[in-house]
Amino acid sequence: MPLEEIRRTKLGIQGLDQALKGGIPEGNVVLISGGAGTGKSTLALQYLVSGATLFGEKGLYISTEQGREELIKQASCFNWDINDLEQKSLLRIIYFDITSGSNFMGKLGDAIQKFGPKRIVIDSLTTLTDSLLISGITDDAGFSMVQIAESVNPIPRTEQVIAKSILYKLFKEIRKYRVTTLMTTELPESDGELSADGVSEFIADGVVMLNYVGVGSVDFRSMIVRKMRYTDHNKTTIPYAMESEGIVIKESEI
Ligand SMILES: Nc1ncnc2c1ncn2[C@@H]1O[C@H](COP(=O)(O)OP(=O)(O)O)[C@@H](O)[C@H]1O
Ligand SMILES: [Mg+2]
Repeated sequence: MPLEEIRRTKLGIQGLDQALKGGIPEGNVVLISGGAGTGKSTLALQYLVSGATLFGEKGLYISTEQGREELIKQASCFNWDINDLEQKSLLRIIYFDITSGSNFMGKLGDAIQKFGPKRIVIDSLTTLTDSLLISGITDDAGFSMVQIAESVNPIPRTEQVIAKSILYKLFKEIRKYRVTTLMTTELPESDGELSADGVSEFIADGVVMLNYVGVGSVDFRSMIVRKMRYTDHNKTTIPYAMESEGIVIKESEI
C-alpha cells in the first residue's frame, strides 16, 4: 500500500510526526521505551492531550504507576487541564492498582467498550506484566503462573516463557480494538535492550526509544524510532527537550 493511503494517528508532537511520515499508522501498538525520567509518561500524556485538543479524539490512559492526582499534577506543569478534558469526555484516566491484581483484561475491555477511545496509553507495560505474572492475567482464563505450571506439569516452564505468553495475550486483546496504543516500558540505562522484558519489541508494531544523558549541568535528550510497521520513518536520533509545553523536538545539530 502506498504510504499516503495509510491512515495515521498524529502524536501532535511536531518533528516526531514528521519523522513518522505523518504519524503512527492507525491501530499500531507502539512501545515507548526508556530509563526513569526520560519523559515516557509525559509523551504518553501529551499524545492523549493533543489528540483531544487538536483532533477531538478520545483518549484512555491506563496508569499502573502514578495515581490520578499525580498525573493531573504532572499535566498541570505543562498547562494541560485534565479535569476539563475529562469533563468534556475527551479523556479518561484509570488507575489500575496492581496490588489488587485481578481481572485486568476484563476491566480494560469494559473501559474500551464503554468509552470508545481512539487513542490508548498503558503506563507502564513493565509493572503490568510483572503484576500479571504474579497474579494471573485474568481470574478465569487460567493464566496465573501457578495454574500454568500445574497445567503443563511435568514439563518445566521458565518464568520467561510464561511472561511471553502473558505478553502475547495482552497484545492480542489490545489489538482486537484496533486503537492506536502507546505502552511505556522501563529500561535500565543503556543496556542495549529495546524493552524491559526483551520480548515485547518483537510483538509490538513500533518501538520509540527515549534517551537521556546528563553531563555536568548540561542534559541531552534524544529519541529514535527503532521500529514502526507499515510505514517508512526517520532512522536517526531526534533531539528533544522537555519545556513548559511538554516534549518539544529540536532541530538536529548534526
Ligand atoms: N515542567 C517541566 N519542565 C521541564 N521538564 C520537566 C517538567 N516537569 C518534569 N520535567 C522533566 O520530566 C521528567 C519526568 O518525566 P516523566 O515523563 O515522568 O518520565 P518517565 O515516565 O520516563 O519516568 C523529570 O525528571 C524532569 O526532568
Ligand atoms: Mg513514567
